[in-house]
Amino acid sequence: MVAGTYPRLFEPLALRSRTAPNRIVMPPMVTNMGVTSEPARAYYAERARGGVGTVIVEAVQVRLFAAEIGPALMRPLARCIQDAGSLAVVQLFVQDRVSPDADRLGPSALDGAREATVEELRALQRQLARAAVVCEEAGFDGVEIHGAHGFFLNRFFAPEWNQRTDGYGGSLENRMRMGLECVRAVMEAKGPELLVFYRHTPAWGGYGIDESIAFAAQLVAAGVDVLDISPSLGPNGEHAHYAGLTRQHTTVPVIAVNGMNDPARADAALAEGRCDLVAIGRGLLADPMWPTKVRQGREAEIVRCTECNEKCFGNLGRGEPISCVENPRVGLEWRD
Ligand SMILES: Cc1cc2nc3c(=O)[nH]c(=O)nc-3n(C[C@H](O)[C@H](O)[C@H](O)COP(=O)(O)O)c2cc1C
Repeated sequence: MVAGTYPRLFEPLALRSRTAPNRIVMPPMVTNMGVTSEPARAYYAERARGGVGTVIVEAVQVRLFAAEIGPALMRPLARCIQDAGSLAVVQLFVQDRVSPDADRLGPSALDGAREATVEELRALQRQLARAAVVCEEAGFDGVEIHGAHGFFLNRFFAPEWNQRTDGYGGSLENRMRMGLECVRAVMEAKGPELLVFYRHTPAWGGYGIDESIAFAAQLVAAGVDVLDISPSLGPNGEHAHYAGLTRQHTTVPVIAVNGMNDPARADAALAEGRCDLVAIGRGLLADPMWPTKVRQGREAEIVRCTECNEKCFGNLGRGEPISCVENPRVGLEWRD
């Protein structure tokens, strides 16, 4: 029986053959711990034990799956998340915007990047498909394509960053092409069971919410199971607005994220039909027990994230493993 003040957060959600045990998602957050390491496993397992329904493991660069990371290395991570009762999903990162590589690719030659050739785009799509298959073979429930936050894939959709004159730039149809081809490449390579999430940032880089919604509908038509609608960091509350508009025009579950770590706000977003799932990122760094405490009506005991960003984003900027001012245990869970 569901107790607590916010039972809606604890309703299961069917995702094709899987069931998310509740509506709370841990969104991808780069840890700088290395996803195949023991510290990373302990960190993710602790959050799964805290009761989050779906864990989306941080962005992993797809090229790593071609070279270093095979199913055997990823399997223990999937298992430790699932053993604690959560669905396990991995975010796949097609290209790193902030990579120090001299030969960094972009849709266009802007911001120090070189314009990717069509052959290079195809190669990236193949790497992405291979990465999804590795995750599937490792036993993950799903993968999330990282098409958000102004990174490589997001820039293809953004007129301010995409000045191509070939079939990948210009019209809305052309700007959607790279994202949709990525989805189709994954669909063709994977088996029938693996779930596919797509993370998109609405209304950014020269496109508005109407184009985002049109893209979301095409992503669903291409086979995407869950839309993760992630605005750039901004004032709390706007996130659910965009997720809600997307949800009105699409047919798959939608995740709202960004400043949702107040249980009343998360519950309201579900109650108002703005989303089907709520993602809580930094809030789960500060307190991995957030879901259990809310479920048990103990929300007063939650250690709250103050959005200081000092040791999460701050440590990332310094190239260090993430931690949390409110919770120095982050990254040290493996010690016990
Ligand atoms: C340390 C850190 C790392 C992040 N890494 C990723 C990432 O790998 N992929 C991604 O799409 N978003 C990433 N994000 C963004 C989060 O997934 C989330 O959208 C953001 O933190 C807002 O949610 P919140 O207010 O609940 O923290 C990261 C955020 C933080 C704090």
